[in-house]
Amino acid sequence: MQLHIAPSLLAADFMHLADEVKMLNASADLIHLDVMDGSLVPNLSFGFSVIEPLAKMATIPCDVHLMIVHPEKYFKRFVDAGADYLSFHLEAARKARRSPAKMLREIKGYGAKAGLAINPDMPVEEVFPYLDDADFILIMSVFAGFGGQKFIEATFDRVKALKAEIDRRGLNTQIEIDGGVGAANAAELGRCGATMLVAGSSVFKSADPAATIAALRGE
Ligand code: DX5
Ligand code: ZN
Repeated sequence: MQLHIAPSLLAADFMHLADEVKMLNASADLIHLDVMDGSLVPNLSFGFSVIEPLAKMATIPCDVHLMIVHPEKYFKRFVDAGADYLSFHLEAARKARRSPAKMLREIKGYGAKAGLAINPDMPVEEVFPYLDDADFILIMSVFAGFGGQKFIEATFDRVKALKAEIDRRGLNTQIEIDGGVGAANAAELGRCGATMLVAGSSVFKSADPAATIAALRGE
């Protein structure tokens, strides 16, 4: 399967968001939107007031990554705001003592693709019980919270282990990788089984973001 590239808007020029969305509409597969609350992760980003107008302008799917405690309080509002893909952290579900399976099913009930995210220190086997309910698993290849961090090499083995389990059970769960993704690791991630790659700095800090997206896709 061809790799789908989801540039992370966190690294975009916020004074020219409309131009960035136009560029992504013409060159990317999804737009990745990072929502942070300063509690699950030590950083703040943006919320509905940015996502809603942006999603209206987007002609490609919006992939909203919730790095917040109690994500279940906001699933419906994010889907209403335009999230086509919506992921939350297993770490957040555990803190809230909620059933990840029920949370995934709730998201799907609103008509969005449901994703379960894990940080690099969460054993990948912890998501195995939820592979039937998740449309995609988001494996963080840096600790969630900031763009521009260095890719953690141990991610390759985590992706391979997850892909082997998905294949063993004959499932179609997609694998998304987020953090430090760029030319040095994209192709190898694809070979390991990743199907969606989030890329912030490597896309927006490059001289030609559209060409970088095409290169990451392997074109
Ligand atoms: C980090 C975010 C990422 C981030 C990726 O917590 O989830 O989506 O924006 O940025 P880069 O590609 O620069 O690591
Ligand atoms: Zn993200």
